[in-house]
Amino acid sequence: MVDALHVAVVGSGPSGFYAADTLLAADDPVVRVDVLERLPTPWGLVRSGVAPDHPKIKSVADTFDQIAEHERFRWYGNVDLGVDVTRKELLQRYDAVIYALGAQSDRHLEVPGEQLLGSVAATDVVGWYNGHPHYPDLELPLHGERAVVVGNGNVALDVARMLCTPVADLNRTDIADHALEVLSRSSVREVLVLGRRGPAQATWTTLELRELGDIDGVDVVVEPPGVLDIADDGLPPVVRRNLASLRTIADRPLRAGTRRLVLRFLRSPVALRGSGHVEQVELACNDLVADDAGRLLARDSGAREVIDAGLVVRAVGYVGVPVEGLPFDPVAGHIPHDEGRVVGHEREYVVGWIKRGPTGVIGTNKKDARETVRRLLADLGPGSGSRLDGAGDGDRPARLAAWLHTKQPELVTDAGWHAIDTAERLAGEAQERPRVKLVHTSDLLAAARGAEEPGRAEP
Ligand SMILES: Cc1cc2nc3c(=O)[nH]c(=O)nc-3n(C[C@H](O)[C@H](O)[C@H](O)COP(=O)(O)OP(=O)(O)OC[C@H]3O[C@@H](n4cnc5c(N)ncnc54)[C@H](O)[C@@H]3O)c2cc1C
Ligand SMILES: NC(=O)c1ccc[n+]([C@@H]2O[C@H](COP(=O)([O-])OP(=O)(O)OC[C@H]3O[C@@H](n4cnc5c(N)ncnc54)[C@H](OP(=O)(O)O)[C@@H]3O)[C@@H](O)[C@H]2O)c1
Repeated sequence: MVDALHVAVVGSGPSGFYAADTLLAADDPVVRVDVLERLPTPWGLVRSGVAPDHPKIKSVADTFDQIAEHERFRWYGNVDLGVDVTRKELLQRYDAVIYALGAQSDRHLEVPGEQLLGSVAATDVVGWYNGHPHYPDLELPLHGERAVVVGNGNVALDVARMLCTPVADLNRTDIADHALEVLSRSSVREVLVLGRRGPAQATWTTLELRELGDIDGVDVVVEPPGVLDIADDGLPPVVRRNLASLRTIADRPLRAGTRRLVLRFLRSPVALRGSGHVEQVELACNDLVADDAGRLLARDSGAREVIDAGLVVRAVGYVGVPVEGLPFDPVAGHIPHDEGRVVGHEREYVVGWIKRGPTGVIGTNKKDARETVRRLLADLGPGSGSRLDGAGDGDRPARLAAWLHTKQPELVTDAGWHAIDTAERLAGEAQERPRVKLVHTSDLLAAARGAEEPGRAEP
């Protein structure tokens, strides 16, 4: 058996945990893993992306907790790559670095008026209702009658559902308190979800679509008329299932006094208008045309519609953020790699959304992490010919911990995170909710502080 490799994984979403788990399962070489996370909390989008009304999906965090119990695993929160530590510093101290950074930014519509108040990215809205500490102060104007969500993926459906669902149902979830409060004062009667192409081109999944039909006090409308009159022959099974669900939902009679969730296809926003804040949206009506490869694309027919709306949420995709010194593909929004190894870089690897781009569900990251770890072990393991300076140095874990504490005196360790977790769960018990989230970094750090060992910053 070969002495331990010590690997830093940066980012503690699903891909970071799955990469750690796969590394820890190796026995030749044995691997130690330090996971570094910029927030004081782990789990990435499982905590701050997955919708609060999907508690079963969030329970994958139990698996991450089990991984974290491994004796060769350590988690350090509140340490931001590029702010508290640099790539070079990590490379000097660890045998390899795996970037599991996710996709931290959003795509734009690139239309006039996008900068107006009331025009926001789904990334921010999702972070806001999930209590991500970067978004508690987001202003979400819900005083108009209509809100628009642009995009036909699962994120668009999550946001639309959260804007429609009665607060009486949300207040049993772990939604952030500030969001609950703002949503309880919402005047929105209609949430309009815009797809630039047709219902057969939408990227959402059937379960998420069906859920729309189950929201209390909400009727679903599909527009324009006739858009579901598509022959099913030759369509992939998932598309056929989606169309069947849409037809079922659309056939239901509309009730008086309900909120409306309108799925309008073949429409693209071409301008947001208003004085200082969004008041109207100008829509282009699209036709579907096939490109040379046979892919159906939206083409502006020239016809226009103008609708009133006080809020426009663009759910048109997340996008990765470059890491200084590493290559980056700005179109796909990810770091180019060869089976997980960063192109042109030794001992640096990627997993998850920063590797593949912002698509795929939680489970997709497991297989993806296996590929990256296989590459890493082939590069650095026995027979690779690589000479690792730290291998066999029993003091290295302690030195690394001391170094990290000097870089970030308010480092949150696993003990600190457990203190946060316990405080949130206890607060939740009283309200019959899974947890009440702490949403300000200062409160999260204060909750962690008591559990951290004193004097830890000494080298
Ligand atoms: C709104 C939304 C809802 C979703 N819902 C579901 C669902 O219901 N079911 C499902 O299966 N999938 C769902 N997904 C998809 C799933 O969340 C992703 O597949 C998965 O989270 C991607 O994992 P990741 O580790 O690559 O990224 P992330 O989960 O984003 O984790 C990245 C981590 O890196 C950290 N980080 C970033 N930059 C730095 C830095 N500089 N230094 C240190 N740390 C850093 C971040 O804080 C974060 O913790 C959803 C996605 C979104 C956007
Ligand atoms: N419950 C769940 O399982 C769940 C929940 C949330 C997210 N997720 C997963 O997370 C991943 C990301 O989801 P996502 O919804 O962000 O991405 P997505 O599935 O790629 O959807 C993006 C949507 O935005 C549209 N779009 C892009 N640019 C546009 C523009 N300029 N104007 C109008 N529309 C535009 C796309 O339309 P085109 O197709 O025409 O490009 C597409 O409908 C997906 O894999 C998703 O399944 C899963």
